Amino acid sequence: MAIHRIVRAGHPVLSRPADPIEDPHAPEILRLIEDMIETMHEATGVGLAAPQIAVPLRLVVFYVPERRVTNDPEDTVSDIIALANPEIAFLGHEAEPGWEGCLSLPGLRGLVSRPRRITYRGIDPRSGPVERTVAGFHARVVQHECDHLDGILYPARMNDLGTLGYVEEVLAAQTATA
Ligand code: NI
Repeated sequence: MAIHRIVRAGHPVLSRPADPIEDPHAPEILRLIEDMIETMHEATGVGLAAPQIAVPLRLVVFYVPERRVTNDPEDTVSDIIALANPEIAFLGHEAEPGWEGCLSLPGLRGLVSRPRRITYRGIDPRSGPVERTVAGFHARVVQHECDHLDGILYPARMNDLGTLGYVEEVLAAQTATA
């Protein structure tokens, strides 16, 4: 296993669509997943997309820790999931705002409105097909990571760029008003 350098906004691999994975069960894909998981943990993130380590393939890893889930019964805790060639179906028209950060935009946070409830599908090369209907933070992290596969970073999803800020300032402001 190896920890990779995470590329930051401005690197061209982050702004172009990633390529489908022809054989999700190929040994090099399994190795790539192990590297992505190690790199994600090292950077203390909850998700990572292959383009973030400059690999232009449709592959993401993520997990949903207890501390991040909302009260929504469909916002479920999850161990690490790897998804090759993921697809998302949006359920209903409800959207909700939430703070997001990204390992490719270190130190920043922004308020992003996203569909609340989704079904996602893909192949976890370590186990098999995955299909889940989720909401809340779980739905948000999946959408954020899959956006990377289409060359989209979260500021492009923000309705109000005025909420983009450095995490220390955003947290200090929230504490001051809480
Ligand atoms: Ni990201």
